[in-house]
Amino acid sequence: VAAEKGGFKHFMQKEIFEQPLAVSNTLLDRLPLDGGGVPLGLAFTDEELRSFQRITILACGTSRHAGLVGQFYLEQLARIGVEVDYGSEYRYRDPVVMADTLAIGITQSGETADTLAAMKEAAARGARGMAICNVQGSTAARLAEATLLTHAGPEIGVASTKAFTTQLVVLLLLALRLGEARGTLDPAVRAEIIQALRELPALLERVASTERKIHQWAQKWHEATDFLYLGRGPLYPIALEGALKLKELSYIHAEGYPAGEMKHGPIALIDRHLPIVAVMPRDAHREKVLSNLQEAAARDGRILALVEEGDTGLDHIAEDVLHLPKVNPWLAPILYVVPLQLLSYHIAVIRGCDVDQPRNLAKSVTVE
Ligand code: G6P
Repeated sequence: VAAEKGGFKHFMQKEIFEQPLAVSNTLLDRLPLDGGGVPLGLAFTDEELRSFQRITILACGTSRHAGLVGQFYLEQLARIGVEVDYGSEYRYRDPVVMADTLAIGITQSGETADTLAAMKEAAARGARGMAICNVQGSTAARLAEATLLTHAGPEIGVASTKAFTTQLVVLLLLALRLGEARGTLDPAVRAEIIQALRELPALLERVASTERKIHQWAQKWHEATDFLYLGRGPLYPIALEGALKLKELSYIHAEGYPAGEMKHGPIALIDRHLPIVAVMPRDAHREKVLSNLQEAAARDGRILALVEEGDTGLDHIAEDVLHLPKVNPWLAPILYVVPLQLLSYHIAVIRGCDVDQPRNLAKSVTVE
């Protein structure tokens, strides 16, 4: 087993560090060559891609958080309305499925019972079906009319890491492909995103080297009993994912919230004991997040922030700041989640938790 971990202490740590490779494998042969479209090899024709009026994303756990980021990608780049639901909720809410709906099941394993049941429910109500999954030949892949594989390689750690970042890559590629077919993509935006995707594996390598600093954060903060994670826009699901990871691995209570919604509840929790982990890349939401964090700081909240290199906006109010390389805002969720994975990993290790097999959790939940 030690050999399988390739010199790392845990599968999860190994898988976090495999992300540059997993992402480049997922991108392989899927970036357009000069003049061509995004070559996804989808089982849908361009005419079908144009016909979709609505997308319903169905998933559980970390895969659902990928879906929430995908909602931004698909709505903004392909201009299709997107809803995201829990597999376990969708199937029991007597869902309204409009004509020309595409239902996308996102599942690392392809075997999560609730996600599969939701995909079947959508299909029975007339939706066309797609799966984004990491296991070729899995039940989800067989159920769907079209499958996009993430090429993350086997994920052993119960807490999902490289499957998540590769799901985000596939969702972004899908949004580009749909945007091309539907004529909604600004060519300049498209070119920038594609160039940024080419550079993504190298950027992920650089982010992995923040581990030493994150380890110091873990040593400082591992005794906290509650954490609040804040972000806005496509970084809001990253706040949710950071909080989920911390709960799963370290058994510390954590909540993820859209930073602008903080004033409607979580602000009551803020005092000098509450660590607030903020994800604030230099994107369209930065100024808003900054002012939300000023409100948190004014109530003695203790801020740990992930910001872009050179961004000094939080220096006076944050207790700890981690600088990440400049990145195209569309890719910020993929980059900013990595330090959050590392933070929960190291806090859990320091607390003596079994990171690869957290209590009560299963890698794939194949029963309802
Ligand atoms: C379990 C795992 C999670 C995972 C979820 C969905 O709860 O512990 O890490 O996100 O299932 O799994 P799936 O294979 O459908 O992505």
